[in-house]
Amino acid sequence: MKNISIKEIAKLSGVSTATVSRVINNNGRFSEETRQKVLRVMEETGYQMNYSAKTLRMNKSFSIGILVPDITNYFFANVVEKIETILFDQGYSTIICNTGRNVEKEAAYLSMLEGKMIDGLIIISGADEFEFQVQNDKKTIPYICIDREPKEKNKTVFVSSNHYQGAFEAAEHLLQQGVKHPIIVMHQRNSSSAKERLDGFKDALKKNNYSFNPDKHRLDFNLDSSHDKKSLQEFLQQQNDVDGLFAINDDIALNILDYLREFEVAVPAQMKVIGFDNVPAGQHSAPRLTSINQDTQKIAEMATSSLIKLIDGNKEIQGEISLVPVQLIRREST
Ligand code: RIB
Repeated sequence: MKNISIKEIAKLSGVSTATVSRVINNNGRFSEETRQKVLRVMEETGYQMNYSAKTLRMNKSFSIGILVPDITNYFFANVVEKIETILFDQGYSTIICNTGRNVEKEAAYLSMLEGKMIDGLIIISGADEFEFQVQNDKKTIPYICIDREPKEKNKTVFVSSNHYQGAFEAAEHLLQQGVKHPIIVMHQRNSSSAKERLDGFKDALKKNNYSFNPDKHRLDFNLDSSHDKKSLQEFLQQQNDVDGLFAINDDIALNILDYLREFEVAVPAQMKVIGFDNVPAGQHSAPRLTSINQDTQKIAEMATSSLIKLIDGNKEIQGEISLVPVQLIRREST
């Protein structure tokens, strides 16, 4: 595409080069009519100018921020990649911020994103409820939450897998496979998805006439492998009839398969194991891992279309909660 100069834009718009420069930098005096005329010429005459002109004229940056807790985690990376693809097709660029589950880093990223004049924000998972009230150049930045409950639900849209349903089905599947003493293995992160999964697990036990006792039915990992291996070993020594285990995500389930192999506990003969997320590694583990699949494409589609509606000023959707169904994927570990 032809690279056009400010002088040519000035000539085509019938104004001086100084006026064009003032419009580009948005400083100095010029009428709205002049501004629109110059921006339209810029938009019509070349890609680079086209983009900045469009940005100035529409008061939009066409960029979206994404806060993600851990970009190395398969589930998060997968959702982000799908969101990025959809947004790119709609003319938006994305700024991906990996918070490392660190509250200070998250706050720093939020203020950086404000400075970058983002049009909208997508918050994926993380501990605790999310609250965001920042305004960007007098414009409230719309945001949506995935997998992390917003504090003020009426100001945003919440999109999440149905974690409760997934955990309920996981526990029922263990029981249907003949498990008599199922346990849930959690991490200590305070996420809304983890709480939902715990509730689903408890309710499935209740439905099947088990009364949930945290000492008997719940083990907490701290995600340090030597600590976790030891605590699993001790737990299984104390509760020596445990024969089924629901791990709150596949990363934990895959570690557990390794620990059980070291303890010479046969899966699935002596212990049945099910995870959550359906990560590709679960298709290659020995035995292959049964898991709960999250529909990342659907989550990405719902989240982006809601955010774009909010950006376009459609406030009617504020307060919407979308729970995306999950699916049990049966493999060898159960
Ligand atoms: O492994 C990451 C998990 O944490 C996912 O299941 C996601 O839902 C989040 O809660």
